Amino acid sequence: MRQISTIMRPLPLLMTLMFGTGHAAAATPAQLDTRARTAVAEMTLAEKIQTVFGYFSTDYKGTAKPEKGVPFSAGYLPGVPRLGIPDQQLTDAGTGVASQPNPAPRQRTALPAGIATAASWNPALSYAGGAMIGKEARLSGHNVMLAGGVNLQREPRAGRNFEYAGEDPLLAGVIAGEQIRGIQSNHLVATVKHFAYNDQETGRFKVDVRIDDAAGRMSDLLAFQIAIERGDPGSVMCSYNRVNGAYACENDYLLNQVLKRDWGYKGYVMSDWGAVHSTIPAALAGLDQQSGWPFDQSPYFNGALKEAVENGHVPPARLDDMAYRIVRAMMANGLTEHPVRVEPENIDYARHAEIAQAVAEEGIVLLKNRNGVLPLTGRQQTIAVIGGHADVGVLSGGGSSQVYPVGGSPVPNEGPAAFPGPIIYAPSSPLAALAARLQAKLVYHDGKDAAAAARLAATSDLAIVFATQWTAESIDQPDLSLPGRQDVLIAAVAAAGKSTVVVLETGSPVTMPWLANVDAVVQAWYPGSRGGDAIARVLTGEVDASGRLPATFPLSVAQLPRPVVDGVGLAEDARFATDYYIEGAAVGYKWFDKHGHKPLFAFGHGLSYTSFSYSAVKAQAQAGALMVSFKVTNTGQRAGKAVPQVYVSKKGSGWEAPKRLGGWDKLTLAAGAAGETRIEIDPRTLAVFDSARGRWKIAAGEYEVILAEAADAPVATVKVRLPAREFAAGAR
Ligand code: BGC
Repeated sequence: MRQISTIMRPLPLLMTLMFGTGHAAAATPAQLDTRARTAVAEMTLAEKIQTVFGYFSTDYKGTAKPEKGVPFSAGYLPGVPRLGIPDQQLTDAGTGVASQPNPAPRQRTALPAGIATAASWNPALSYAGGAMIGKEARLSGHNVMLAGGVNLQREPRAGRNFEYAGEDPLLAGVIAGEQIRGIQSNHLVATVKHFAYNDQETGRFKVDVRIDDAAGRMSDLLAFQIAIERGDPGSVMCSYNRVNGAYACENDYLLNQVLKRDWGYKGYVMSDWGAVHSTIPAALAGLDQQSGWPFDQSPYFNGALKEAVENGHVPPARLDDMAYRIVRAMMANGLTEHPVRVEPENIDYARHAEIAQAVAEEGIVLLKNRNGVLPLTGRQQTIAVIGGHADVGVLSGGGSSQVYPVGGSPVPNEGPAAFPGPIIYAPSSPLAALAARLQAKLVYHDGKDAAAAARLAATSDLAIVFATQWTAESIDQPDLSLPGRQDVLIAAVAAAGKSTVVVLETGSPVTMPWLANVDAVVQAWYPGSRGGDAIARVLTGEVDASGRLPATFPLSVAQLPRPVVDGVGLAEDARFATDYYIEGAAVGYKWFDKHGHKPLFAFGHGLSYTSFSYSAVKAQAQAGALMVSFKVTNTGQRAGKAVPQVYVSKKGSGWEAPKRLGGWDKLTLAAGAAGETRIEIDPRTLAVFDSARGRWKIAAGEYEVILAEAADAPVATVKVRLPAREFAAGAR
């Protein structure tokens, strides 16, 4: 292949490539296209290959990390300095700058889990959290952040639910999209992941997910579509699993047809670490960058790709397109104009901890509150605080996303020593944070001896039991029970004590056999660097309880589409399929509605310390859009946050389920105050995807608009007639 020599290149062109026009942020898409194309035209074959072939940045499998990779990080690709293209320095993930455990992990601010952010139902907070972790990534020397996890929670036992944003495509897509936008506001590339259907960890490298196109477009793919359109991530990470036979990273349907053709995606597709299985099929199916060598069996996109281009198996134009997409994403996000430096001394940890705390506070969900036992108002003289290491910290989820929190884990040597362990706690003690706010005498018991804990509860005015469930990448939960003997502990405390509050630090839904015997249950997820303070502030009512469930809490596994997770008990390298035709697009509450299952706690559920009333509910078809408006009044005695949810429903529509979430709002209202809300319903939640024509179709007719406080708690229903409308797969 002929290359233009560097010396012959006219200087102004080089200057434009390196520094842009001086207004990179304002560059139009067309200008970006031209800049990126010009840069790629200047690249040698070797430079293109090095742009599409990524290394793991840590010593692995006997392969030393690349010298210029930032220590402890996930990936590195060399830049092309003569064209102003910087190195790509990659870091995980959605709760902050992750680290490898050895020799001495880098400590950073830990955001609450993705599921906690989703539970806030607050897109602005998701943005703020993303902006914060993106800033730490930048100041840690990274310009690509592997964050924006949006796999739908189809499987409540899945090990990575904590990294994602729940079971509803609209909620998950908006929350993940805002996080991506926040991260990229720091001149970084963010990576929405894992595309697609990587909804379980059991057999994740081999499982073949079977699903039809329409069901996927209305569920998992819709979550990605919304996250991409809101967040405009520079990159999409294809997943480990197969989809309808083909590996996701060599899946023409997913990458070329859905993502690039139908959605018009202009960024690049990077593989998950170890998700590539070929050179030519992967390149032709739309994979643009192999990541994390040596996780894959072969360096497919290194020498083999070069050869495939030279002998014509991969057209040179395809390699150009790969490099172009990567370079364009870097330019579009200002990586070229704003080079990163390792300067952690400039991280404002105090401010960042406040952001983590704000997210945690709004993500905590008050599930039950009998007789207003919460908030704690100083009625009690003695309080027993039991279990969950609540004397020293709060739990986090494990795996590649693991952030080692500032201050270090106060609970050493728990869980597996190797990946996805060890178990890490953030050093934010709920006990200390409660003690700082309450006059009562607090006594801690570790909960290991249930009888002893029950004796303490019996002599206390109130017992708060902290229960934990460590979930992690690569392993699913065996069932929906709290692990160990925690159910026994809670039951014993509840039986002996005067009053019992349970605080759950879990990554996904758990069953609660003791529910009727406790007074309150608070779902705190993995609440991050300041989780202890956030929990204490919610328990004492310094802030309202304003989280709502982003996923259904089932009563038992018998209510699920798959009572046993497919692949359980099979050898690690076994190839097997999982059948998503069973539920299709009816994920989570949609499945529960369709089958009339009553869950333990419904999607959208969450109590406030105040109460709200709703009036003047109107639904109007306006210029092709459905607008819903209503008034919310705080009818209680204190300030609080309402999360009104709008579900839409169409009888005889052939929808996958009786209703879908079409929009929501979150309002802060002083006691007695009222606010007006106006929501545009996402048109895809009114439509059915017609695979044969590749278009969304809204049928003409009558629709129900259900204003609700949860999927099972409607407060008002109005009807509206909509005209027929159809639109392209990538439109809205
Ligand atoms: C995970 C990804 C992660 C990558 C790099 C993989 O094991 O699935 O989410 O970004 O590792 O650490």
